[in-house]
Amino acid sequence: MNTEEAIQVEKIADTTHEIFALIKQRYSPRTFKNAPIKEAHLHQLFEAARWAASSNNLQPWRFIYAEKGSEAYTKLVSCLSDFNQSWATNAPVLMLAAYQEKTPSGQENFHGLHDLGLCLGNMTLQAQYQNIGMHHMAGVDWKKAHKLFKVPAGFHVATAIALGYYGGALEELPEDLQKEESKKRARMPQKDFAFKHTWKEI
Ligand SMILES: Cc1cc2nc3c(=O)[nH]c(=O)nc-3n(C[C@H](O)[C@H](O)[C@H](O)COP(=O)(O)O)c2cc1C
Repeated sequence: MNTEEAIQVEKIADTTHEIFALIKQRYSPRTFKNAPIKEAHLHQLFEAARWAASSNNLQPWRFIYAEKGSEAYTKLVSCLSDFNQSWATNAPVLMLAAYQEKTPSGQENFHGLHDLGLCLGNMTLQAQYQNIGMHHMAGVDWKKAHKLFKVPAGFHVATAIALGYYGGALEELPEDLQKEESKKRARMPQKDFAFKHTWKEI
């Protein structure tokens, strides 16, 4: 079966209320089209990240990205957990996402991780607009990543990310992950996290 004939996955959220189509369509793929990401598209992703809000406009986010075939890509793969290594090499681009831990006055930037997340939200939706799937990964050995990529003191690698155009073939994944990839996306109901007036025990 070639890529054109292969089963492609769509995981449109079954929303309770109508929302922006890109949010409905987004999911975290483990299979990607076998094609590099165009450089102009990568710049658009970083541009979307660039214009995110951040506490005091500190813009604490930093990224290291690597294209498949490069030495940096191989190094990045070696920082991933065994589970993530089992699928993330399907991605044409891998990335480390880091944030600066201190403010310019040397105080702890308590909101640094928040701002990194917000900027990655921007990037993820921009990616969706360009038919690029982003799969965020906590399963990364950040100590190894700091060492291999000479991340300076004061910065912390929070996650790794696999990116690529949607359209990979399901068959590229081991059987258990094929099932996972085809599963319906599910979420807790709004009443369990959006509380009016008082905190509610659920
Ligand atoms: C911060 C973060 C860390 C994650 N870490 C991993 C990971 O290490 N490996 C993995 O396969 N998926 C990881 N995921 C993906 C989540 O499992 C996924 O977003 C969640 O199951 C919801 O699925 P959806 O994104 O397709 O809606 C991570 C997601 C986020 C946001």
